[in-house]
Amino acid sequence: MLRPRCTLLTALLACLPLATVAAQNLDSLLARMTLEEKLGQLNLLSAGGRASPEQTALVRRGLVGGLFNVIGTENTQAVDRVATTESRLKIPLLFGLDVIHGFRTTFPIPLAEAGAFDPDLAEATARAAGREAAAAGINWTYAPMVDIARDPRWGRIAEGSGEDPYLGSLLAAARVRGFQESILATAKHFAAYGAAEAGRDYNTADISERTLREVYLPPFKAAVDAGVATLMSAFNDIGGVPASGNAWLTDTLLRREWRFNGMVVSDWTSVAELIPHGIAGSRAEAGRRALTAGVDMDMQSSIYVETLAPLVQGGRIPMAVVDEAVRRVLRAKARVATLKPVAPNPVEIRALARRAARESIVLLKNERISRGAACCAPTDTPLLPLPQAPAIAVIGPLADNRLDALGPWHTEGKPEDVVTVLQGIKSRVPASTQVLYAQGAGIEDSSTAGFADAVAAARRAKVAILVLGERHDMSGEAASRSSLGLPGVQQQLLEAVAATGTPVVLVLMNGRPLILEWAAEHVPAIVETWYLGVEAGNATAEVLFGEVNPSGRLVATFPRSVGQIPLYYNHRNTGRPPAGDKFTSKYIDVPVTPRYPFGYGLSYTTFAYRDLKLSAARIGPADTVKITVTLANTGTREGTEIVQLYVRDEVGSVARPVRELKGFRRVTLKPGESRPVELRLAARDLAFYGLDMKLAVEPGTFRVFVGPNSAEGLEAVFEVIP
Ligand code: NOJ
Repeated sequence: MLRPRCTLLTALLACLPLATVAAQNLDSLLARMTLEEKLGQLNLLSAGGRASPEQTALVRRGLVGGLFNVIGTENTQAVDRVATTESRLKIPLLFGLDVIHGFRTTFPIPLAEAGAFDPDLAEATARAAGREAAAAGINWTYAPMVDIARDPRWGRIAEGSGEDPYLGSLLAAARVRGFQESILATAKHFAAYGAAEAGRDYNTADISERTLREVYLPPFKAAVDAGVATLMSAFNDIGGVPASGNAWLTDTLLRREWRFNGMVVSDWTSVAELIPHGIAGSRAEAGRRALTAGVDMDMQSSIYVETLAPLVQGGRIPMAVVDEAVRRVLRAKARVATLKPVAPNPVEIRALARRAARESIVLLKNERISRGAACCAPTDTPLLPLPQAPAIAVIGPLADNRLDALGPWHTEGKPEDVVTVLQGIKSRVPASTQVLYAQGAGIEDSSTAGFADAVAAARRAKVAILVLGERHDMSGEAASRSSLGLPGVQQQLLEAVAATGTPVVLVLMNGRPLILEWAAEHVPAIVETWYLGVEAGNATAEVLFGEVNPSGRLVATFPRSVGQIPLYYNHRNTGRPPAGDKFTSKYIDVPVTPRYPFGYGLSYTTFAYRDLKLSAARIGPADTVKITVTLANTGTREGTEIVQLYVRDEVGSVARPVRELKGFRRVTLKPGESRPVELRLAARDLAFYGLDMKLAVEPGTFRVFVGPNSAEGLEAVFEVIP
């Protein structure tokens, strides 16, 4: 980890504990800075692995506050040495990087990891990634991405925690804590980036302030409350006001209402993009709008440093605004010096990657099948876990694919570190089992030329494992899709293999919910693995063979058709909720329900919920109700259930969602074991933005649901009294 050298001036910043960076110290430094040097601190530039000679020259002149995509201590130290010894004020640099789901060790994508419903896990993987990044000279990550996403067409759904603000908030705070052991974190993209119309990346968002506050903002607030150092302003506009020039968002709400005193960085050229948005006619005007709105650091537009000096000198931008932004950048730098990065332990981190991959896998379907006499399992049992068989076919473009298993943001992750599904399977079967591999087709192929080999392999096998899905870069940034089926000829490949009559296990690798209607009807077993990172093949094979009992849950709804989107569990009821009557809110050509709801996921065992009890039938506004349910493992294997607590406010001054997640517990039970599980709900957790847009708890009746997902569960009611 880079430690800036202590000089007279850097001592004011980087070499002293944060608490001692008193306002007067910063003021005295600011007093020595030229306007050019101040604007330089607000300038953030991307490099290609190391600083270019031109960038180094700008650093020497004090015209750069931070660089990103400089990787490796040799490279960061080289340019930081120029900043701290050759520039006039010797102020160290920030070194940023997108460390989204791992740095050197690639973990499951956040959408997958969120399905573990395990904030400790999210904190641990962020901490590990932060340690690895810090060891490579990075001191600032552009993560966690905390955007709520209700639209799977939007490719960036892969980078976040799904559609629920409660879970998203817990995970946002956990990841901030994890990263900030070693590097500064950034909650992004502030705000409502996930509300892009039609799921098209960078598109406009037009949502009510209530939806903004109740759905899209809570994870940001949680990150702020967890002490996140920086926020990134988003590309999108909200109702015509771009988030990178939105004084209400970055000043009124963030700084005044939430009391955030960290730094705001723009997204990549989002300051310059105020021009095509149509709210600025020139670069200088774009810069003025962004800076005066509260965007402190300009990522990659160079607009602040290149155009704002005359506006400040001419009085169009108050010097106080510039000074405040510079203070925030300098305070971030001072904070870097207080971090205490721990050296990464590769063995522990690899084991953590395995744990994360195991916990992220979601079993979507597992039908009973009749097995032929040749197979060694009893007849009429669920297809998974797989019994030993003389021959297994492993088919599909993702079966032996290292690069795609890494997912959309693999940073310094290396394909050679990945264990593929084929390798994972091969290393777990006895020598007597034949593993017949056929790629069948490429991910986006239009040719069916490889089908014959795949079909032949399936015919010779007792079971066919098809590993299908998306290329790693079909999700993530600028990767919106309008159709959500399996790309290329993969659907035909699936059908061709299924037509052999050999039982099929569909293993999915993808960065978003897919439309899986045919598979859901015709394929006996479906395992959603998302992109699991380096341990993909081991974790998947452990689940397939039953060494690990799957426990992951969906954090984004799987629709039945693209036409249903946006489809999310915490919707409002409407005045005409779907019913038999024609004139109710539904479709004439597809059910209104999802294929797989939020919170859904199966296990190799079964769980029963009994005896839902509330500690009180009525509580006051300062009280808490204890909710107890007895959970029983009614199957034959140990398993982990994610007990979920949802609430519905039956009558409010504004219509409330049909269900809202308010709590959960991961509970592991042995076969036959049962245990009371307690969840707590404070009346203040029921607050919402009422008719007057004030956050308050409204007295009335609340329905509680406790169960395995957002569509099932035991119910009870209680009242909140004034
Ligand atoms: C643009 C992306 O939107 C953002 O998430 C990322 O942090 C920046 N590029 C920097 O790479």
